[in-house]
Amino acid sequence: MKGIILAGGAGSRLYPLTLVASKQLQPVYDKPMVYYPLTTLIEGGIRELCLISTPHDLPRFQQLLGDGSRFGLTIDYREQAQPEGIAQAFLIAEDFIGQDAVTLALGDNIFYGGDTFQRAFAEFKSGATIFGYHVNDPERYGVVEFDAHGKAVSIEEKPKSPKSNYAVPGLYIFDNEVIRITKNLKPSARGELEITAVNVEYMRRNELRVHRLPRGFAWLDAGTSSSLHEASAYVQTIEKRAGVKIGCPEEAAFRNGILSLSQLEEQMAKMPNCEYRAYLEHEVVAEAKRLEK
Ligand code: G1P
Repeated sequence: MKGIILAGGAGSRLYPLTLVASKQLQPVYDKPMVYYPLTTLIEGGIRELCLISTPHDLPRFQQLLGDGSRFGLTIDYREQAQPEGIAQAFLIAEDFIGQDAVTLALGDNIFYGGDTFQRAFAEFKSGATIFGYHVNDPERYGVVEFDAHGKAVSIEEKPKSPKSNYAVPGLYIFDNEVIRITKNLKPSARGELEITAVNVEYMRRNELRVHRLPRGFAWLDAGTSSSLHEASAYVQTIEKRAGVKIGCPEEAAFRNGILSLSQLEEQMAKMPNCEYRAYLEHEVVAEAKRLEK
């Protein structure tokens, strides 16, 4: 399974924050936003990643994440020259995907809690797997409607009159057919290759699974100043209360067996003295050594 993080867009809703750094590089409490979807993909077992961003912002992501070896990953980088839709990612990254299945994560989606994703990754064989999350404002998202048996019967992009409260979050698992499906898509009225159109095509083929995310699960989007602030407050609250970090890719890589303990220590040694390093040192490494004894 390959992984793509799409971190494009002008970030106009966050202006002037986004004058110098793109939305997905903004801090969500104590880390850059892109660390959160990155961690989600690592937890799903992905090791080969492609990050797509604008020509202007791509060098910043390369500076931040490098070749990925810090996290036990390989990371390729590709440009999205024009914002022509989320599904365009599959065309931009076609050679990177090769013959594999692919998970697409949007760079501004933050997830926390439970193992629904991990199970979905592990169970995935073919077709498409997406998720549904109950929200207050479904009209801002792709909206999925279920029948009485819990089967998805419609998906609409930002409908004026949503048929349900279930929004589709920005994490999508597809088999290799996604490339062919995207090539046959026509741009929507707003001139974009819509991810919703891809999902609709899988649904038409009867190859779409939609897992409803449970109540205890958190899906945050950080696309406006106020939702960015709320996401930061949420992360801070949980981290302070539980003494664990959300969105720590080094920790996720270690816990998934992608980084060994000595590799993690090596990475840690390169970090300045800071709270992030202290967390890895005291909560992750020291704990692992204690358990080793
Ligand atoms: C996009 C998708 C939408 C999805 C959302 C999740 O919307 O088009 O279907 O629900 O991401 O964050 P956008 O963020 O481009 O408004």
